[in-house]
Amino acid sequence: MTDTIVVTDDGAVRTIRMNRPEKKNALTLAMYTEIARALREADASDAIRCVMLAGVPGAFCAGNDITDFLKASEGGLNRDTHGFLHTLAGSKKPLVAAVGGVAIGVGVTMLLHCDYVVAGADVTLSTPFLKLGLIPEAASTMLAPMRMGYARAFSLLIMGCPLTAVQAKDAGIVNAVVDAAQVDSVALQAAQEIAALPPKALAVARGLMRRHTGAVIEQIDAETGHFAELLKSDEARRAFQAFLARKK
Ligand code: COA
Repeated sequence: MTDTIVVTDDGAVRTIRMNRPEKKNALTLAMYTEIARALREADASDAIRCVMLAGVPGAFCAGNDITDFLKASEGGLNRDTHGFLHTLAGSKKPLVAAVGGVAIGVGVTMLLHCDYVVAGADVTLSTPFLKLGLIPEAASTMLAPMRMGYARAFSLLIMGCPLTAVQAKDAGIVNAVVDAAQVDSVALQAAQEIAALPPKALAVARGLMRRHTGAVIEQIDAETGHFAELLKSDEARRAFQAFLARKK
């Protein structure tokens, strides 16, 4: 475990907290690896019955670290991210997200894999993939149209129009909108409620609701192929460099 991902178990609920506040929880390769490891451990544990994904005050997750994108544009896509996406999509334990502050890129698309999402009233969800010369990932090109309808998915994912927490709830990708200060406690309460359900029935019912997991994994793989190509494009590299140079 690194200090950028903090894993704590409280009864039957495991909390995986992204903890890189100085970079708004932009995810590094090491962070993807640690989250995936914590999810796999939870899957293998009878004691853990629900997993909560959380951030720090002001930041759920600012997406993939753009420095890593730039490195990947030179060296090729790292398998850590791909492994994380597969693990997330195939997670056997219910996932609850506590979304406070910034939620961008994979900080949004990971929510489409969660079973229950609590968002702070001040949160906006945004996915500026196209503006970076990239495409949406994490099977969001399949899950977002399925969950929110093509029109809303297009403006979020392709046009990069942000959604407020309330709009995200109306669109069906957020369960509850609460005061910013209550995000973690409300999400934990939901996680505890889910964890208290009869585990066998829960696993069967959830499995039936997620019978499309195989197709989701295929979509992740298809997106990843295009994503890896686009990372190397001049337009993407220019966008990464512009972000990293913006304060200089
Ligand atoms: N990758 C790398 N670094 C990131 C980052 C990311 N995705 N998001 C934020 N950071 C870093 C900033 O570079 C800054 O680092 P510095 O202090 O060393 O300069 C630090 O986090 C704080 O961000 P800052 O931009 O100063 O804070 P802000 O409150 O003005 O804006 C964001 C926060 C998240 C809105 C803004 O940083 C942003 O737009 N980040 C990029 C998001 C993105 O495009 N992600 C990829 C999606 S596909």
